[in-house]
Amino acid sequence: MWSLLSSAAVLLAGVSTAAAYPNPEGCTGDCFTHDPSVVRRTDGTYFRFSTLDLISIRTAPSLSGPWTDVGSVIQGESIIDLDGNDVLWAPDVSYIRGLYYCLYAVSTSGSQNSAIGYATSSTMEPGSWTDQGEILTSSSSSPYNAIDPSLVNGTGADEFYLTWGSYWGDIYQAAAAIDTTYIYPSGNQAQIAYNSPDDGNYEEGSFTYYHDGYFYLFLSVGACCTYDPLPAAGTEYHVVVCRSESVTGPYVDESGTACTAGGGTTILASHDEVYAPGGQGVFNDPVYGDVLYYHYLNTSIGLDYDDSKFGWNVINWGANGWPSL
Ligand SMILES: *[C@@H]1O[C@H](CO)[C@@H](O)[C@H](O)[C@H]1NC(C)=O
Ligand SMILES: *[C@@H]1O[C@H](CO)[C@@H](O)[C@H](O)[C@H]1NC(C)=O
Repeated sequence: MWSLLSSAAVLLAGVSTAAAYPNPEGCTGDCFTHDPSVVRRTDGTYFRFSTLDLISIRTAPSLSGPWTDVGSVIQGESIIDLDGNDVLWAPDVSYIRGLYYCLYAVSTSGSQNSAIGYATSSTMEPGSWTDQGEILTSSSSSPYNAIDPSLVNGTGADEFYLTWGSYWGDIYQAAAAIDTTYIYPSGNQAQIAYNSPDDGNYEEGSFTYYHDGYFYLFLSVGACCTYDPLPAAGTEYHVVVCRSESVTGPYVDESGTACTAGGGTTILASHDEVYAPGGQGVFNDPVYGDVLYYHYLNTSIGLDYDDSKFGWNVINWGANGWPSL
């Protein structure tokens, strides 16, 4: 225990040149999360979906809580016949033409034998979801790992894109056709972000958000999930952003570096008691405006997976359109 926490404190003390990041806004009630996806239903109820179990669902009357665990999206196991189908990862929930689509991933740690599947519901309540099964798979011969899905609308009507990927080949994207009973990744599969593995900064957890003429691609970069032993300082999970005028890219960072060549402007990294923030998404809140939400570890509590907490901060879109917290 001492080694873990005291070395974390030493690491954090060493990051003296890091930008100042705000502490997460408050969270009350059940604040466990990993790879959160947040959606507000039209009646004002907030839903937060998380990795683990069968995509656990927590609800609250506001972003800061109090959050209550109400159940899960999938019951029993996913209909996808693959190892890991009873411990689902990385939900991404979208509202499209009156229906909620919860994308999720089936895999096991360190494996490229993965699948992206989804379930649909008109209310998001536990027990209301229909598991629709897989839409994309990968194996050791694939250029990517079919996990960490997210959907984004293109600029045209009924134009959708699926983005996914982790570690192997980092982040890929394809156009997707969506109807009530299918999501079909129909277009060319293209790599849109990549970092050389020699740098140890693997990318995953992509989330795309449109703001004022640009598509912003938020990524989780670095070592995730197990921090015993700790990775080298600065190589633990952190959040970077790239942008493009086109949803299909090319994406660049604030300095103009291509995000297929290791680019990515850091907007959130370990600071104060916050360690390894990531698994992020962006949500437009009626009270706070655009919000970046994520999971993080609190060095005063512990660095186990089960210690992951829900955090969020309001996004400031700077004069040049680059976001900061
Ligand atoms: C995306 O497009 C669908 C279908 O037109 C629409 O229902 C949904 O509200 C859009 N979502 C966003 C975030 O604009
Ligand atoms: C970390 O945990 C301590 C002890 O519970 C708490 O006082 C502090 O506010 C937490 N900090 C963050 C950033 O969550």
